[in-house]
Amino acid sequence: MSEKKLAGKVAVITGGARGLGRGYALRLAGLGADIAIIDRNLKAADVYDFEKQLMTAADVTEELRSLGVRAMGIEADLTDRVVTEKAVAEVIDAMGHIDIAICNAGGGTVTFADERESVGSESGEPGVEGTGDISTTGTPSDCDQDMLLRVLDCNLMSCMYTCMAVAPFMKRQKSGKIVTVSSTAGIDASAWYHPYGVAKAAIVHYTRSLAQELGPYNINVNSIAPGIIRTGRLGDRSHTANQIALRREGTIEDCAKVVEFLVTDLSDYVTGKTITIDGGQSDHR
Ligand SMILES: NC(=O)c1ccc[n+]([C@@H]2O[C@H](COP(=O)([O-])OP(=O)(O)OC[C@H]3O[C@@H](n4cnc5c(N)ncnc54)[C@H](O)[C@@H]3O)[C@@H](O)[C@H]2O)c1
Repeated sequence: MSEKKLAGKVAVITGGARGLGRGYALRLAGLGADIAIIDRNLKAADVYDFEKQLMTAADVTEELRSLGVRAMGIEADLTDRVVTEKAVAEVIDAMGHIDIAICNAGGGTVTFADERESVGSESGEPGVEGTGDISTTGTPSDCDQDMLLRVLDCNLMSCMYTCMAVAPFMKRQKSGKIVTVSSTAGIDASAWYHPYGVAKAAIVHYTRSLAQELGPYNINVNSIAPGIIRTGRLGDRSHTANQIALRREGTIEDCAKVVEFLVTDLSDYVTGKTITIDGGQSDHR
């Protein structure tokens, strides 16, 4: 099998400017795919030292081009449906088609670092106000209205808007691979981190429904549910290793390998499914 098994394919990756999304972009570009990144901030990697150290060029599109593929970046806030539709149309205009969509934008963020005055290195603790993005907090019975709406918009609606924007193109070409991004927080219930878990749980359901609608058009729709994966935003969680069957936190590459499975012919007869990528953590008792 050719190493460049995605040559000639175009992949849209939302939230690809840093973290897991950047990892998916680099992985798929390594397999020959042309890449369009849509992110609210194409320089989002600058917020965290961990991410900055991973970067090999000024931004992700430059990194991708150095792998020999076509790459473009669009700055757009995917919580706006019209903006999302325009961004996807721009990709079609520039690249000609879309074969793969990774709906990765999201996260347990209620306020981005670049929305505040002081921007610096990572805070490390989710929910603790530092110089990085500020994480979601809330319980099922007690959650600010602003936080509820922002987290649902950022995770669930951005994912749905992206799927809705790419689906008509994929239906016409009678092929496509869509990967949505849930989380183990959307599968296991907890009394904390509430709106994020609800958004990610809804993504699992949306994925199953969308797969039913798009299956007759030869479009696969699947989801991944990462557990604890080391990114700049999440910070170092290596101390949680004893709660994980494989005794280590996950890496960006661990997730990118599963995404590769879901966007290549290896998964041609898989649709509507969510693959948990957590080193066995969710079965730990
Ligand atoms: N890191 C983990 O352990 C983990 C675990 C489970 C699920 N996830 C999910 O994986 C995805 C990526 O996580 P990450 O850790 O790489 O986060 P991250 O914050 O490092 O990256 C998210 C990217 O999405 C972009 N983004 C956010 N909101 C956006 C919007 N409205 N419009 C456009 N772009 C937007 C950000 O600018 C950023 O570049 C998220 O959906 C997150 O919920 C991550």
